[in-house]
Amino acid sequence: MEIKKINSVNSTLSNFDHPYMQGVWQPFYDEYEVINLDSIGEIPKDLSGIYIRNTENQIHEPIGRFHPFDGDGLLHSIVFNNGSADYRNKFIRTEGFLIEEKLNKSKWAGLMERPGTSELPGWGAQGCLKDTSSTDVVVHAGKVLTTFYQCGDGYNMDPLTLNASGKAPWVPVDGVSAHTKVDLKTGELLFFNYSKKAPYMHYGVVGKDNNLKHYTPIPLPGPRLPHDMAFTDNFSILNDLPLFWDEEMLKRGIHATRMHDLPSRFAIIPRYGKSDEIKWFEANPTYCLHWNNAYEDGDEIILDGYFQENPVPEKYDGAPKGLERMMAFLDNHLLKPRLHRWRFNLKTGSTKEETLDDKILEFGAINQQFACRKHRYSYSMMPTKGWFTFDGLCKYDHQTGKSETYDFGEGIFGSEVCFAPNDNAKNEDDGYLVSIVTDINKHISSCVLFDAKNVSQGPICVMPLPQQICSGTHATWAQMSELSY
Ligand SMILES: [Fe+2]
Repeated sequence: MEIKKINSVNSTLSNFDHPYMQGVWQPFYDEYEVINLDSIGEIPKDLSGIYIRNTENQIHEPIGRFHPFDGDGLLHSIVFNNGSADYRNKFIRTEGFLIEEKLNKSKWAGLMERPGTSELPGWGAQGCLKDTSSTDVVVHAGKVLTTFYQCGDGYNMDPLTLNASGKAPWVPVDGVSAHTKVDLKTGELLFFNYSKKAPYMHYGVVGKDNNLKHYTPIPLPGPRLPHDMAFTDNFSILNDLPLFWDEEMLKRGIHATRMHDLPSRFAIIPRYGKSDEIKWFEANPTYCLHWNNAYEDGDEIILDGYFQENPVPEKYDGAPKGLERMMAFLDNHLLKPRLHRWRFNLKTGSTKEETLDDKILEFGAINQQFACRKHRYSYSMMPTKGWFTFDGLCKYDHQTGKSETYDFGEGIFGSEVCFAPNDNAKNEDDGYLVSIVTDINKHISSCVLFDAKNVSQGPICVMPLPQQICSGTHATWAQMSELSY
């Protein structure tokens, strides 16, 4: 194993007296390159591709109250090839990152403060946030693409080195939300954005040549807070859910979310469709952060995701003063998301829906080779009670309705897994689940591999990383073949 510290970013952070600046959320500032990671258990020879994890890692002392989603984007990648693995981590050099690096201080307030608190004009549907590009990551057109949940620029990097290669050239003026979707069959990227001005949402398609080929409004009755989208072979699915900013408070500059007495609404639009081709469907009120997959089945479109039973949670007991609401919205055991299936009938316009499993689950993955197809397996994270972290993972079998789980253990927290098919995969679960776990007892993070056929036996390979990493949201897996366009 050869460890090289490539760079250290200068931090001005001095006050760590915040529940999301400690433990698994403690930020770090060193950038490393490690060739040939050591492993406990053999690194499989039939695993060829890249796992890339985005994390939220605050660099400077915040202006006002800190929210963990404000943290600067820091990517971690592990390249697997013929039984060996190399690790790299690199901050995403966003426009905001570079300005704050130069001035050596924060210039933007975060989600918890009013937009006017920021010292410079910013990004995001809320307005005046720093676009940290720290939410999501995919590989499209041979490049890494990172995005921000409140909408911002798209940032490209080289997948093998994580070196910056500029902003994605196709991003429209209203920006791009997190949860862009890559259709592996066509090489296209599907995306949406949202804002506080009419028509409040747009949807678009980027070709495999990285050029914008379609862009259309998805008119909504007002500002909304969508987080994810879904797609089938022929349709894209956008949403208008009843959890959004209170209109009266918004007039006073306060961005407070509340549940409205409205149904959930889903916009189903042909992939290259225009606004007048949208078919709207209604469903039970909820908020849903993430969808797992969608596919066409006769007259129906099937959509799987996580239905929150309680999208506006009660106050969090024991939170530091002023952070009660934030802590509650980060506690999935208060929000109660469960694996759920919606069926939209394109002929009749009716919706059917059902909860698939009683467990509190979120942050799902499937084998992406089965995107837009009837998938048998989904892999979800099991949230920690009280915290935006994960204690374990769950493999759900949609054919039998059975599930198997694995618990990481006391003081060990996982992050969203990705499914990585093995080189000779024939069945849907022929492959590995890849993730990074952090053990706060030992102050170490490790990349872990699970045999997707036997999740409950625990990791078959553990590769310690050179430093503990800060937690975050999303990750992606790309086969080596996806890198050449
Ligand atoms: Fe997300």
